[in-house]
Formats: sequence, C-alpha cells, structure tokens
Amino acid sequence: MWRWVVALALLSLGGAWWFGVANCRVPGKRAVEAPKKRAGKARGPAVPATSSEVQQARLDAWPPQHRPNGTMLKQPWVSGGQGNPCVPALHHLPPRGDYEYHPSDLEKQWIDVRRRGKICATAKEQEQQAQLWLSYTASVFQAKQRPAREPTEEEAGVLSYFSYPRPDGSRVNRYLEPLHGAAGHPLASEGCAMGNQSIDEQNVTYLLPENACTKEGNRTKGVFFDLGCGANVVGFENYDYAAAANGSGMRSSIPFFFRMYADRCIDFQAIYAWQAERVDHKHFWDPLPDPIRARFRFFNRPVQEHLCPDSPQGNLTERGGFLKLLTATVSLEDYVVVKVDMGSLALETRELAIVESIAHLPELSNLIDELYFDYHFYTGIGGDHFGGRDVDTAINLMLRLREAGIRSHFWV
Ligand SMILES: *[C@@H]1O[C@H](CO)[C@@H](O)[C@H](O)[C@H]1NC(C)=O
Ligand SMILES: *[C@@H]1O[C@H](CO)[C@@H](O)[C@H](O)[C@H]1NC(C)=O
Ligand SMILES: *[C@@H]1O[C@H](CO)[C@@H](O)[C@H](O)[C@H]1NC(C)=O
Ligand SMILES: *[C@@H]1O[C@H](CO)[C@@H](O)[C@H](O)[C@H]1NC(C)=O
Ligand SMILES: *[C@@H]1O[C@H](CO)[C@@H](O)[C@H](O)[C@H]1NC(C)=O
Ligand SMILES: *[C@@H]1O[C@H](CO)[C@@H](O)[C@H](O)[C@H]1NC(C)=O
Repeated sequence: MWRWVVALALLSLGGAWWFGVANCRVPGKRAVEAPKKRAGKARGPAVPATSSEVQQARLDAWPPQHRPNGTMLKQPWVSGGQGNPCVPALHHLPPRGDYEYHPSDLEKQWIDVRRRGKICATAKEQEQQAQLWLSYTASVFQAKQRPAREPTEEEAGVLSYFSYPRPDGSRVNRYLEPLHGAAGHPLASEGCAMGNQSIDEQNVTYLLPENACTKEGNRTKGVFFDLGCGANVVGFENYDYAAAANGSGMRSSIPFFFRMYADRCIDFQAIYAWQAERVDHKHFWDPLPDPIRARFRFFNRPVQEHLCPDSPQGNLTERGGFLKLLTATVSLEDYVVVKVDMGSLALETRELAIVESIAHLPELSNLIDELYFDYHFYTGIGGDHFGGRDVDTAINLMLRLREAGIRSHFWV
C-alpha cells in the first residue's frame, strides 16, 4: 500500500527492496491524541491465571485455538549492526501449546537451511508448487460469507496448517499459506525474473486469512489493531477488498481488513489504529459511518515501545504503546488481528521490538490470533543496510510466531 509515495526515496537511501517495501511515513510533529473513552463493556486485563484456563477458554471459543503456555523463551541476540540489536540468533523454538504447527514441505525448504543469497533459486524450484498454493488461495480469497472449500489433496500438500485438539479427542486442521522467501506473492518477485512478471507485487491473494464462516451462519467477534494504518480510509462504505487484493487500485488498510474479515464472518467490534504522519482529520473521518466511528480509536501518533532487548524481556512502555494497551483491552474470546506496517525507516526498530516481543512473551502471543507484518530485509540487491536482517531472520521470526500459536503472514 501507498508504496508509490516514496518508493524512490527509499531506494535512494540504499534500500534494496524488491520485496515487501512500504512507503516511508515520518512521525508527525504535532500529534493529536485520540479520545480515550471506549464504547462497549469495560473489560479488565485479560491474561488468565493458569494455562488450563487458557486452554479451556480457547476450546470454548471459535476458531479452535490453543494458546501458548510456559514462560518467556529467551533467545540470544546477535549484533544487528546499524544500532539495531533486534535480530535474534536463528533457531527454532518448541511449540508452546497443545496445538501443532505443521509447515509444508515447500515451507520446510525455507526453514531447514539458510536461504540468504538463494531466494530466487529456491523460488524458481518451487514455482509449480507455488501455482498449486495460489490456485487454492486465489479461489477462496473472496469468501462470500461461506466456509472455504477444503483444499484438494494436491493443494493441501503445499499448504501449512495448524492442528488443534477438540474436546472429544479428535483434531481439526486449519490451513494457512506456507512461509516463503518472497515475503509476498511468490510469483511477483521482481528481482527473480520468473514466471509471471505481470503479477503485481501488491497482489495479496497469496494469503490465507482465517475464515470463520459456518454453514449455520455463525459470526465471530474480532478486534483489529492497525499499526501504521495509512492516512485515509477512503471508500470505506463500498470498499471492494477483492479488487484491492489483486493489486489493482488503491489499497486502504482499514477498509481492506474490515471488509476482508467481515466477508470471513469475523466482525471487528473495535478498531485501534495508529498513524505517525499527521492527517487531515476532516478528510480522514468523513468516509466513516457512525456505527464504525463508535468502534474506532485513532491515534494520530507513532506507536511507542522500548527497543530490543528491553521490550521482549517484558519491559514494555507504560503509555502510548500497543503492547500494554493490548493486554488491557482484549479478551481471549476476541478474534484479534494485528497488522504491523509502520512503513518508515525511523520506526523500523520499533516494529521489530513489538513483533519480537509478541514472539517472546506468551502473555502477548496468547491474545493474538492473526498477525500481518511487512518485514524489511536484505534480499541480495544493493548494500545490506538492514542490520543483519535477511530472508533467514525473516522466515525465522514468522515461524516463531506460528510456533507461538499465531497465524503469522508476510504483508507487503
Ligand atoms: C503446554 O501444554 C501442553 C498441553 O497441555 C503440554 O503438552 C506442553 O508440554 C506444555 N508446554 C510447556 C512449555 O509447558
Ligand atoms: C501466468 O501468465 C500466464 C500467461 O502469461 C497466464 O496464463 C497464467 O494464468 C499466469 N499465472 C498466474 C498464476 O497468474
Ligand atoms: C453456531 O451457532 C449455532 C446456533 O447459534 C450453535 O449451536 C453452534 O454451536 C455454533 N457453531 C460454532 C462453530 O460456533
Ligand atoms: C483478481 O483478478 C482476476 C483477474 O482480473 C480475477 O479473475 C479474480 O477474480 C480476482 N480475484 C479476486 C479475489 O477478486
Ligand atoms: C493475483 O494473483 C492471483 C494468484 O496468483 C492471480 O490468480 C491473479 O490473476 C492476480 N491478479 C492480477 C490482477 O494479476
Ligand atoms: C526499561 O526500558 C527502558 C528503556 O529502554 C530503560 O530506560 C529502563 O531502565 C528499563 N527498565 C528496566 C527495569 O529494565
């Protein structure tokens, strides 16, 4: 989204990003506080006392999710260079709940060995499998308020999935797209000169967001946190998220996620959004009907957070951050979706601190169901200005989120 605004400016800063680069937004100089009052019933901090309560709450809720137990998992940090220490040493963490995460073989090729310098070679080898993945995700992308069709056996073979236990001892599988070094549409990788050059890199039909629709027409309550929501919500009322998903036209983050999840029978009861760049408030609020305004908290300020390694050790910023606010706001029954894409170089270390904290701290990962992250990393073109972040650290972070029970997705 909004990439065209400053893509060139970023490149001129030496960023070699043919994947996953958003635009550059700078913190507003005169920020405006959003009103603090919340509609709806007040809820206390939602972290339950014991892991068995967590397990039970998740069993009672839809979708069938299991939350991580156990204590904080320490991970040694490696020097990230560039004053950015938020790059942990690569290794896999054990699962933290009684769900199981099953990466597909396609994904295992990215996680089992280092792929730095081999992104295109690996992506090319996997092109056929990627077509199968895309044929499924594109075909179910427009949910139309119905449960997604089951993938065929062939399609299921390339998708990753979570397996959750049911109270009766049976298990249920929920599929999601495999992690892939393109960190976006696997055939849209500009630098790789592969397959379909016509695929727009903003085409997000590679994603497999959760679909909560049931035959009986049940609906699920959700909460959306948008860290870097963009400067507008234009076209909210008649927003065609499916067309925007294809990469055509302007993608406006809040309308996109709101409509995409509503079509999957997940209704956002509350939306919390941050945008650092100062917006024109009249222009910003105009497209929003009152029922949406009633559940919308907009912070026209940069998200605050202590940097690594402080925040992943549980030392969270007291005010103006997302992580503390999350624990004070949502309950386990909410379907919580988080998008992290602050899009500015200045805020990148903060984004990483936030996402690493979620991966490290069960009391945070507990609360989040699905997370989208535009991870910026060195892809092999130009200089490495990414403080040690490359395809391997990117895949590793997304995998650790999945191991912590979160459906993590690369965002573009
Ligand atoms: C978490 O809970 C599951 C099931 O209750 C158990 O199998 C697993 O060992 C626990 N993990 C940790 C890290 O305590
Ligand atoms: C790739 O391009 C060909 C034509 O060049 C088209 O037939 C095919 O559908 C495209 N594949 C995808 C996944 O878009
Ligand atoms: C869907 O709603 C029906 C009727 O309200 C209820 O009996 C059923 O348990 C719900 N299904 C799920 C999966 O929540
Ligand atoms: C994306 O565009 C293609 C071709 O224009 C179309 O067939 C497809 O339905 C679109 N996908 C979605 C999810 O709207
Ligand atoms: C977006 O990607 C999907 C899956 O590869 C493809 O079917 C669709 O045609 C693409 N849309 C456009 C407009 O290229
Ligand atoms: C928490 O982090 C802040 C910011 O990095 C630091 O100034 C403070 O000393 C830390 N507090 C503790 C108790 O570690």
